[in-house]
Amino acid sequence: MSPVTVSRALAQLTAEGLVVTRPGAGAFRARPRLPLAAAGDTSWQEVALSADGAADVVPRTVDASGVTVCLATPPPGVIEFSGGYPHPALQPEKAMAAALSRAGRRPGAWGRPPLDGLPELREWFARQIGGTVTAAEVLIAAGGQSALTTALRALAPPGAPVLVESPTYPGMLAIARAAGLRPVPVPADSDGVKPALLADAFRATGARVFVCQPLFQNPTGAVLAPERRPEVLRIAREAGAFVVEDDFVRRLVHEDAGPLPRPLAADDPDGVVVHVSSLTKATSPSFRVGALTARGPVLERLRAIQVVDTFFVSRPLQEAALELVGSPSWPRHLRALSAELRARRDAMTAGLRLHLPELALPHIPSGGYHLWLRLPDGVDESGLTSAALRAGVAITPGRPYFSAEPPAGHLRLSFAAVAAVGEITEGVRRLRVAWDEVR
Ligand SMILES: Cc1ncc(COP(=O)(O)O)c(C=O)c1O
Repeated sequence: MSPVTVSRALAQLTAEGLVVTRPGAGAFRARPRLPLAAAGDTSWQEVALSADGAADVVPRTVDASGVTVCLATPPPGVIEFSGGYPHPALQPEKAMAAALSRAGRRPGAWGRPPLDGLPELREWFARQIGGTVTAAEVLIAAGGQSALTTALRALAPPGAPVLVESPTYPGMLAIARAAGLRPVPVPADSDGVKPALLADAFRATGARVFVCQPLFQNPTGAVLAPERRPEVLRIAREAGAFVVEDDFVRRLVHEDAGPLPRPLAADDPDGVVVHVSSLTKATSPSFRVGALTARGPVLERLRAIQVVDTFFVSRPLQEAALELVGSPSWPRHLRALSAELRARRDAMTAGLRLHLPELALPHIPSGGYHLWLRLPDGVDESGLTSAALRAGVAITPGRPYFSAEPPAGHLRLSFAAVAAVGEITEGVRRLRVAWDEVR
């Protein structure tokens, strides 16, 4: 055995408490552990956990299912059309490892960072948004999920309505419900949210927040049309409301996309927009670094909530983010990712047209990592999802993306989480098998 293997084995045994190491003396067998105590009785917790909340206007329900679906690993042999992050083959693993090791050696890397985040990293996120956004308006957050949680808790009190696109990201609906908010759906089409309905929804509910993904929306892939962008900002401003802009896949643009629209936050002098961005989708789900950007007094509220909840984002990870985005391999990685995502999207759309023409594909996105398909009337979404899993492909049903009754059945198919393009063709073939079973 190599010395590395021996030292790894020793480290594992030490962590398991089976071995103790004494520097200079060697490794010794640890004293036997005491037998485990008999399991206690935790049944009292069912009462305790149900007793509170009676006075809440909207009960706070913490339902993780919408989030765990895109984080779950399917059983071995099952093709993953359900994942929400790029497969390790698409992650910049070498560049991240190098960045992390350089970061760990930076002076002060293990000290406390400034609470708002490292100034250079805040500067970088501000530059990414553009317009007149400055580093002083940026707070470093632990990824998009955490930033969205802070934003929703800061902007709406428990019981308040929050306007959301319909359909939208289930993880955001889960955040809203966990905060005791009432998501109110506003229909969107392939040009994004419909402004007239947005205005109606503000009037009808008195909401002070609208959560919007203007770029490559999850799940539809839609981009908010140029003429709708100023409309959305104007309508929110007139309603005295904030727009939470979830800019989650700006870096997952496909090779054949035209120039990208700027974030709404870049054209917002009055602080209507609270902008959320994250590095995870273009790197790895574990690279939990993102930013929350806002202008005006709301920044202080966001800052306070974030500090109370989490103190700050781990400094070595912030340093690693700076190392990564400043390295020559970063633009190379983004270019390679962009080419690969386009090839995968094309393989999936071609496969679906050939093998499953029954499924409507209303919009082919030029960014992001998934397709959104409408099922013909009468097809049972969850039946098809179960049949697909039996046939060896994990897909995501559309229901959790709707905060109220959906207009039709849908599926979301992700093409980023599989290992290679070949798996896409095979996955679509398996979906056909499932389709034939349920039809
Ligand atoms: C629309 C949207 N926003 C935010 C997130 C949160 O991602 P993260 O916390 O990894 O940045 C996700 C994850 O799937 C998402 O789909």
